[in-house]
Formats: sequence, structure tokens, C-alpha cells
Amino acid sequence: MDILQLLRENIRKLVPYSSARDEFKGEASVFLDANENSFGSPLETAYNRYPDPLQWRLKEKIAQIKGVPPQHIFLGNGSDECIDLLYRAFCNPGKDNVIICPPTYGMYEVSANINDVEVRKVSLDAAYQLNLTGIAEAVDEHTKLIFLCSPNNPTGNSLAREDVEMVLNGFEGIVVIDEAYINFAKQRSFIQELTEYPNLVVLQTLSKAWGLAALRIGIAFGSLDMIDVLNKIKAPYNISQASQELALKALENIELVNNWTREIVQERERLREEFSQLPLVKNIYPSDANFLLVKTSDGKPIYDYLVAKGIIVRDRSRVELCEGCLRITVGTAAENDRLLSELRSYQPATGHA
Ligand SMILES: Cc1ncc(COP(=O)(O)O)c(C=O)c1O
Repeated sequence: MDILQLLRENIRKLVPYSSARDEFKGEASVFLDANENSFGSPLETAYNRYPDPLQWRLKEKIAQIKGVPPQHIFLGNGSDECIDLLYRAFCNPGKDNVIICPPTYGMYEVSANINDVEVRKVSLDAAYQLNLTGIAEAVDEHTKLIFLCSPNNPTGNSLAREDVEMVLNGFEGIVVIDEAYINFAKQRSFIQELTEYPNLVVLQTLSKAWGLAALRIGIAFGSLDMIDVLNKIKAPYNISQASQELALKALENIELVNNWTREIVQERERLREEFSQLPLVKNIYPSDANFLLVKTSDGKPIYDYLVAKGIIVRDRSRVELCEGCLRITVGTAAENDRLLSELRSYQPATGHA
């Protein structure tokens, strides 16, 4: 498959912006090419020079950790930027469509709406797995992207690998697998399958297991053509120097992050066990993520009760297939204990006769 054939005509023809950092890459002692302030920055650290537009040092570090060559990596201002760029590259506004499988991460739809792209929804089944027949029926010649989220937000489960492979093999557009929560999963990532599927984009992020949500670093893994396209259309300096430096430093601490991840998974299973003892809990769904989707007796009133106690969870009780559900992020053991203690004291409001 030639993914360049799927591009919007204007993107295929685009002459990208060429920055000062693109045009001169060598060593020099006087830089007067980018209208920067040569005096410095009014800070302890100098940020007066534009950063590396392609973030090579950071990509090389990520490549080493993930086992994927740096040329197959694109970095975005959060994975949210990667999602938006995929729309801009492949979807003609008012003409093309994408498929999403609700309940799922909200930005796929919001980004589609921003870009004036039709969203075709093929809901997950009752086990929160893909409806492959529904997806096949929803695809037409204007379907450019299918978003699959695994482990899925807000349900927490991984999608069955064979189902994802069916979509990858059967669809002639781009399949985006969002693996934001992959570090918490038993499932294997799809990043090793990039050579097999030229139409595959895998999204990951430093916002979850790596604890760097405020730095805004999302990762797209794809074919060389795909990475080329994303680089062509991104803002020239989309990742700040401060973010690049801090992320590089953070990535040295893989052992700490792995220990946290193990602890979060243990805490998740402890919470599952403890929740199952609570009368207000009706169901706890399987989770491969750092949160649990919990079906409760009351939904919103329990959410409001927790807010009043200073504990914020995510109310998903009005989301399709998640009626009555709260999405609860796994916190530290102390935070989880506080949550459990408040939930044990919850008294449902009684109606008056
Ligand atoms: C499935 C999924 N993808 C992507 C994101 C956004 O990640 P980032 O912080 O990298 O933009 C989230 C955030 O909650 C998410 O749940």
C-alpha cells in the first residue's frame, strides 16, 4: 500500500516551511540567522535559541528504549497533536470520514469536528471489543482513518489482538492504534509490526506511565513515509527546548518508572478487590490501564459525594455503554486508601415516603 496515495492533494503538493535550523546544521560561533536574541534569556538557563525541530537526541533515546529506529518516530505536542495532524494530512474537510469505536477517547471526535471531518461510530460490543462486521459495513471509499484505542479509554481493556490484525489486514486506509496506556498492559505493543503494515500508526505518550503529562510529549510510530508526512505539516518547533531537555533527563530513570508501573498495577488489583466488597459497586471491568471503570449503583451522586470529600474521579455515567460508571485513576496507596475509606462511608440518599 502506498500511503502517499491517501494524502490530501494540498498536502501531497505542500512545500514545507524551511526554518533557519533546517537550512544550517553545522558548527559555527556566530548565529545571526534566526532573529533570536543573542544576549541570552532572562533566566538561569539559556532558551534564546530555537530548539532542534526534529528532536533527534530525544528520539534516539526513545528509539533505544522502544527498540524502534529513530527515523520511524515522530514527536508531537502530546498525542493530541499527532491525532490532529493525521486528520490534516489525510482527511479532506467536508468529504472524507473516519471510524471510531465508542466508548473511546474523546479527542478522536473533537479533532474530527475541528477539521470538519465526518465521524462514523461503530460501538464496541458488550464486552468492549470491536464489532468487525460493523466496521466493515461503515467503511466506504472516503474512509481515511480508523482509530483503535488499546488499552481503551474509558473502558480500560485491551482490544483482542486478532481483531486489530483483521482491521489492519482488511482496511485500505490508515489504522491508528492508540497505546497511551500500553505500559500497564499485559498485551504486546504493535510497534514491532510497523514493517509489516505500512498503513499502521501507533500512538504512545510520555503523559501516563512516564509521569510527564505537563511536558506534552506524544509519540507516533510509523513508516518512513508516514513520519515524513507528519514532519512536513507540523509547526516547525513543536516541542520546546525545555520539554526536550527534561524528557531526555527523565528517560534516564527507566528503573524508577518501571517500579512505579508495577506498583500502579498492584494497586489497581488491590482496588479491584476492595471495590468488589462495596455494596455500591455493581461491576468492575477488566483493565490493562492505570484506571478502573466501575459500574456503580448511583453514578453521578457518588461522583458528587466524592467531590465534596475533595476526591475527583471521572463521571462517565452518561456515556454510551458506561451507564452508572465512574472512571477511577489508580493513585498512590495513600490516595487509594482515602478513596476506599470515603466510599465505605457512602450512604445512598433515601427517598421520602
Ligand atoms: C487514549 C488516550 N490517548 C491520548 C491521550 C492524550 O495524551 P497526550 O497527553 O499525549 O496528549 C489520552 C489522555 O488521556 C488518552 O487517554
